Amino acid sequence: MTQKNIPWYMNAVFYEVHIRAYCDSNNDGIGDIPGLISKLDYIKNLGVDCIWILPSYPSPLKDDGYDIADYYGVHPDYGTLEDLQRLINEAHQRGLRIITDLVLNHTSDQHPWFQQSRSDPNSKYRDYYVWSETDKKYQDARIIFLDTEKSNWAFDEKAGLYFWHRFYTTQPDLNYDNPAVIEEMRQVMKFWLDMGIDGFRADAVPYLIEREGTNCENLPETHRILKDFRSYLDKNYKGKILLAEANQWPQDVLPYFGDEDEFHMGFHFPVMPRIFMALGKGDASPIHWIMAQTPTIPDYTQWCIFLRNHDELTLEMVTEEERQWMWEQYAPDPRMRLNLGIRRRLAPLLDNDLRKIMLANALLFSLPGAPIVYYGDEIGMGDNIWLFDRNGVRTPMQWDESDNAGFSSAEADELYAPVIDSNEFSYKTVNVAVQEKDPHSLLNQVRRLIEVRKAHPIFALGEYEFLAKEHTQCLSILRTHTNEQVLCLLNLTDMDQNLSLDLSKYAGKELVDLMTGKSQGVIAETTTFFQLDPFGFQWLFIK
Ligand code: BGC
Repeated sequence: MTQKNIPWYMNAVFYEVHIRAYCDSNNDGIGDIPGLISKLDYIKNLGVDCIWILPSYPSPLKDDGYDIADYYGVHPDYGTLEDLQRLINEAHQRGLRIITDLVLNHTSDQHPWFQQSRSDPNSKYRDYYVWSETDKKYQDARIIFLDTEKSNWAFDEKAGLYFWHRFYTTQPDLNYDNPAVIEEMRQVMKFWLDMGIDGFRADAVPYLIEREGTNCENLPETHRILKDFRSYLDKNYKGKILLAEANQWPQDVLPYFGDEDEFHMGFHFPVMPRIFMALGKGDASPIHWIMAQTPTIPDYTQWCIFLRNHDELTLEMVTEEERQWMWEQYAPDPRMRLNLGIRRRLAPLLDNDLRKIMLANALLFSLPGAPIVYYGDEIGMGDNIWLFDRNGVRTPMQWDESDNAGFSSAEADELYAPVIDSNEFSYKTVNVAVQEKDPHSLLNQVRRLIEVRKAHPIFALGEYEFLAKEHTQCLSILRTHTNEQVLCLLNLTDMDQNLSLDLSKYAGKELVDLMTGKSQGVIAETTTFFQLDPFGFQWLFIK
């Protein structure tokens, strides 16, 4: 792949935005689409390529919009369809792409399809959902929202039957054995693609089909349906993407890329907790290990990698022992835990230590894949563990030190959620305006990281090789693409580290620090020595 024909998503940096939380334009206390539009220049200046907006459809909001009541509209809290069209256009005018969630697996129980399905056995919608006379089917399927749900079945009085749901009871699963459901979803895709949306983060894709005697995840029938969506996209909408949310081991995500005929991108879930393990233990082994479990993926597909998102920091893909360690280390207060995870933001997880936050970002950006930055993490926002469910990591964006952090002019008690205003994470000190002015702020350092990464597609496309694996206090990665090399050296400890590497292959070549542009000397014939500051990192271009 030459740098010219790289599909845009391969070398992209994504920014995840919750419209509710970003900016309130009409002062009702809830972020909205015009508010987001007013901040597009800020997003553009971050240097990212693509915005991922969380679901903005009409919804009773029992799962913050992942319970959709109408796939063809916009939640009145957020604005109108015209607003959304304007958002897409304005993003495009700035050279930003925009993708949104396609929630395939389930609808809200308020969706008219479900209402008709439960009320009328003769309705064509009866078969849109998974009904059963017994709740004993598919017992091998795990429960995902463990803290809330006791079963994947719920009894519906009206229908006199049980319906299947992998998430909240208020989110009945669609029946993908019914071709009419597949056709409905194709129409939903068409609607948004025709509006100009650049693709979809396809939610919860492993669970589309149920079969007795299986765990009802990743089934061949599910892959066939997803391939059908991809072929529809390819035929009609060039350059648009599908990103798979499959919270699975990498070898189980591999089939979601298919033969370049299923998803363009897939989240790499299990690398994420291991970045926190590596930082917490001062030990690179968890990263070495998970990358060894990560198969090569087809040429024109890409991993999506992230540190945090709008959900809990999931600990599904770690051992029981590792989970206990993560909980003890990162969620000492039980309120910080949710399901099999941790509901905290990046900065509080890393003790609000700028060095560690930058190191975590640099580590993420050093790995193959397209990184996603979660709104607010670029300024080190805090969380509020007293809010229900995952709402504590979805609080209002902190723009400046004015009332309500510049998020809204409503009364403070009218905000959809309180702004963070206590201790070291208060919006009075942690906000965009303050950090814009400080060249050394997290915001400006993250910007620089994005800028450098974007300028060197080697980060996205290159091969990787771990060096000096025995020196586990540091993560040393050699990235190589065509004739270029970048050395990524990361010190995972709070002490100076002296690292010696055999780079004799490149003897005589100069090392240039990509973050500062400064020369770091010449590679030696035998061993080259490096000195890394506590929690420091260097990205060195071999010139
Ligand atoms: C989303 C969650 C949501 C769930 C059910 C996911 O994986 O990220 O926020 O609750 O799907 O739709």
